[in-house]
Amino acid sequence: MFDTLKAPAPDKIIQLMALYAADTREGKVDLGVGVYRTADGRTPVMAAVKEAEARILAEQQTKSYVALSGDPAFHDAMRQLILAQTVSADRVAALATPGGTGAIRQVLELTKGINPDATIWLSNPTWPNHPSIVDYLGLKRSEYRYYDPQTGGLDRDGMMADLAKAKQGDLVLLHACCHNPTGADLTREDWMALAEMFQKSGAIPFVDMAYLGFANGLEQDAEGTRILAEALPEMLIAASCSKNFGLYRDRAGVVLAVTSNPQAKAAAQGSLSYLNRQNFAFPPDHAARVVETILNDPNLYEMWRDELRQMRDGMNAGRQGFADALRIEAGSDRFSFIAAQRGMFSLTGASPEQVEHLREAHGIYLVGDGRMNVAGLTPDSIPVVAKALAQTLR
Ligand code: LMR
Repeated sequence: MFDTLKAPAPDKIIQLMALYAADTREGKVDLGVGVYRTADGRTPVMAAVKEAEARILAEQQTKSYVALSGDPAFHDAMRQLILAQTVSADRVAALATPGGTGAIRQVLELTKGINPDATIWLSNPTWPNHPSIVDYLGLKRSEYRYYDPQTGGLDRDGMMADLAKAKQGDLVLLHACCHNPTGADLTREDWMALAEMFQKSGAIPFVDMAYLGFANGLEQDAEGTRILAEALPEMLIAASCSKNFGLYRDRAGVVLAVTSNPQAKAAAQGSLSYLNRQNFAFPPDHAARVVETILNDPNLYEMWRDELRQMRDGMNAGRQGFADALRIEAGSDRFSFIAAQRGMFSLTGASPEQVEHLREAHGIYLVGDGRMNVAGLTPDSIPVVAKALAQTLR
């Protein structure tokens, strides 16, 4: 059965992780996969997570199954973190999933079940796994303009013109904050304009929230999502706890389906639980329990929020430091957009050939489209990377 099998080409981010691991050079710099690093290059377990894990270890009496949809206390904690009081709980179905990607997959499967003809609108560019999962499920997809490489900001007019074509029942995938790969985010006004557009068209927003708290703060980063939730009868959210809780390998994520009434919520809830059952039965519990323990304990919550703020401040200071170093190396302001953008990623403007040169000649690893994980820079690597990048892009 495997004799004629051809393995699919691995995703370019996963491919790069393998290349980096196989590189034996001292001083290689990993700016590929989106993982946060401290100034000394570590991705530590957050102290609030360690403390929550210690409590769970001491108190947990059973590892028996919870529920197909996961623990309701995790749902409630995530709903409140993301939506606050914008929508009443009796309109929001929730599902625990293995990571944010698991949540994206379940949202797309749910959509396919309800409306197989829906078009999924993706920003150009977007995280490569978005189109990959859409295609794998055999759903239709379209792109909308998003990024203006001239300014390093949003192509607002292009986005609005393209999304005006999204029809009732189509899904429009938006990045809540820290857009991957561009680092260019929507403003409050953009979110409001989108809400108005969706009110008219009946297209449904699907927010991928992988970096809550990494841009400007927990409240600020949720603002756009809450604007949509307040304005619209229905929306979908896939949230990840990988980055903001540093729980990458433990896989905690959640689907929130905002519905128009409690009856619709019950139908969505049952359908989502069914999807978990078909795909893997029960979702993993450990990381979700860590998250709910932190969010439901005022001391742990403060501790976590403070650590998250330090990560965010570190990333934003790294962006500024890198833009400053590039100004000196390039002798111009052409890279100043890096300081203005938010989150882990920026598009450096390097071509695939230049990305290859950076890897071969300098041991600096970027994704092939020129995406850099700015959160992977350290005070030591900033001058080295700035010099190599400015030279390569000259
Ligand atoms: C990334 O974009 O690097 C992260 O979201 C990790 C991943 O799974 O690709």
